[in-house]
Amino acid sequence: MTERIREFLRNRRNEGQDVEPCLVVDLEVVRDNYQSFAKALPDSRVFYAVKANPAPEVLSLLASLGSCFDTATVAEIEMALAAGATAERISFGNTIKKERDIARAFALGIRLFAVDCAAEVEKVARAAPGAKVFCRILYDCAGAEWPLSRKFGCDPEMAVEVLDLAKRLGLEPCGISFHVGSQQRKVKAWDRALAMASQVFRDCAERGINLSMVNMGGGFPTKYLKDVPPVVQYGRSIFRALRKHFGNQIPETIIEPGRGMVGNAGIIESEVVLISRKSDEDEVRWVYLDIGKFGGLAETMDE
Ligand SMILES: Cc1ncc(COP(=O)(O)O)c(C=O)c1O
Repeated sequence: MTERIREFLRNRRNEGQDVEPCLVVDLEVVRDNYQSFAKALPDSRVFYAVKANPAPEVLSLLASLGSCFDTATVAEIEMALAAGATAERISFGNTIKKERDIARAFALGIRLFAVDCAAEVEKVARAAPGAKVFCRILYDCAGAEWPLSRKFGCDPEMAVEVLDLAKRLGLEPCGISFHVGSQQRKVKAWDRALAMASQVFRDCAERGINLSMVNMGGGFPTKYLKDVPPVVQYGRSIFRALRKHFGNQIPETIIEPGRGMVGNAGIIESEVVLISRKSDEDEVRWVYLDIGKFGGLAETMDE
């Protein structure tokens, strides 16, 4: 917790307001995090994953620092635009979109879309003609505290077909994306994903499709209780992997940090309402808060 947050909470309590639970974010920490990403991966463009915290203040700060934005919904696109980002700095990174939302995004000027199957390519081709698409590939997320499910992404062999179809339907197949799993503690986790991406580049090139971009997703961890490697170590490891798999033809790269950008910038203040035991022999205490699993503590699920 930063001194600024501590002071904010102290003042709030001293003012004697009816103190509700609240989340306080220190924008200076977000600024530092953005700068650390920009420094650790100087050749990658940062697309902040808006879902991590879409507060207007966070988005405006990042827009002013030059960040781009990875969005999952039309509402997020509108928030990023309202914060000052221009449409060419926003991607619609959700692989599962309603066709009318694709059309709405296209009308708002968005030209970069994620896909991971033929049916989604067909929707994008109809609703966003000529747009750029990148195909998300599946990755097993070993080493991540929050591995993502198999819901998003396809096998690399299928990615080639998906991008081929995109080209035939008049879209611009531009690259590959993956996500190594959230709160990824292994700095080398990107290596195998980049190997897979480079194979898709080669297979596409054989079909006359020249890809130019790898979206390396999020996954950069934040410090909660346990220490995590600093982002500079991730940067070095990713650069080595890019050299290893792409040689001297390193593509344009994108990163989409969410948790790593805002996770350590805020704190939730909540009040303990009751501490109890269920029997005299009970070895555990039940601590009841005035905040719920679905009101900010989703990650306590299954813990
Ligand atoms: C496409 C995409 N990009 C970026 C992120 C952000 O990931 P993280 O918070 O692990 O950095 C997510 C999270 O689910 C995602 O699905």
